Amino acid sequence: MPTTSLIDLRSDTVTRPSTGMRKAMAEAEVGDDVFGDDPTVRKLQERVAEMLGHPAALFVTSGSMANQIAIGAQLRPADELLAEAGSHCLNFEGAACSALWGVQPRTLEGQRGQLFPEQIASAVRPISEHFPRTRLLCLENTHNRGGGSVWPLDRFSAVVAAARAKGLLVHLDGARLFNAQAASGTRAVEYARQCDTATICLSKGLGAPVGSVLCGSADVIKEAHRLRKRLGGAMRQVGILAAAGLYALEHNLDRLPQDHEHAKRLAHGMAEIPGVSVDLASVETNLVFSDLPMLATDALARLREHGVLATPEGTRPNSVRMVTHLDVGAAEIDEALLRIRRALAS
Ligand SMILES: Cc1ncc(COP(=O)(O)O)c(C=O)c1O
Repeated sequence: MPTTSLIDLRSDTVTRPSTGMRKAMAEAEVGDDVFGDDPTVRKLQERVAEMLGHPAALFVTSGSMANQIAIGAQLRPADELLAEAGSHCLNFEGAACSALWGVQPRTLEGQRGQLFPEQIASAVRPISEHFPRTRLLCLENTHNRGGGSVWPLDRFSAVVAAARAKGLLVHLDGARLFNAQAASGTRAVEYARQCDTATICLSKGLGAPVGSVLCGSADVIKEAHRLRKRLGGAMRQVGILAAAGLYALEHNLDRLPQDHEHAKRLAHGMAEIPGVSVDLASVETNLVFSDLPMLATDALARLREHGVLATPEGTRPNSVRMVTHLDVGAAEIDEALLRIRRALAS
């Protein structure tokens, strides 16, 4: 690796498609997917539906689109959804649930993104003309703002059961669900099949350039088709992209534990840099949050000058987020640590 090359730890979305993936894309059999004619898209949808234990699935452009279509397909204007306060669907999707569907969000404070079963019952409003109808609980696994935390299956099941007891629908934002699987050994399907809808992202740890898949019942996915079209997300010979997704599932799923090892290596190295503090126990998957001895904005500018890219963590002024992925190996992590040490000392 040339010492001048940038080491990009901003996100697991920065990966570039490999030669093998590009070849699979180039050779994909395609058709017009708006007519349902694209065999590669159909294959991807069937594959993911089966992996997550749902009857049907829909290929969409992004994780945000998948979450928002799930919400729009299941709620009506003036319904209320519950989600953990740091959830992606409420914090990083441009207020879409309110703007697109007229849905009122209500946040619940979790612990590293995870809720407690007791929080659910008290958050569901009584039926009354005064209140919105509380209809849906959105969960996220792994939890991005929670530092890539993995829900223990028993806690997840207890929260879903509490939601069911109150008649709620449950959506799972599984943008990094396969990271949860890789870290915990609990298969993705064990989480996903408990929920009415569940998503995965192909463009994060799995390394595809684009795409997410939303899973649910045949009825929900039928409605999801309508909403995807409404949002301008229906695409034509999109098997070219679905082929990247299939390739990613085939070749990049089993290597996710490497990203987690690299995250631990990074976290341990960061913890040894004077003035830096990292909660090592919180590094469960591919995200590393560190508190630095200066404002994150200043630190990130210094890191950039030394050839390392990262992002602010967003809730604490001195905290930064680094993410390991397919395009960084152990050598890049070690080099990044040298550069970070130099940058913070300069
Ligand atoms: C947990 C989670 N959900 C959804 C998304 C949205 O994905 P996209 O950027 O493809 O819209 C992200 C993106 O980082 C995420 O971390």
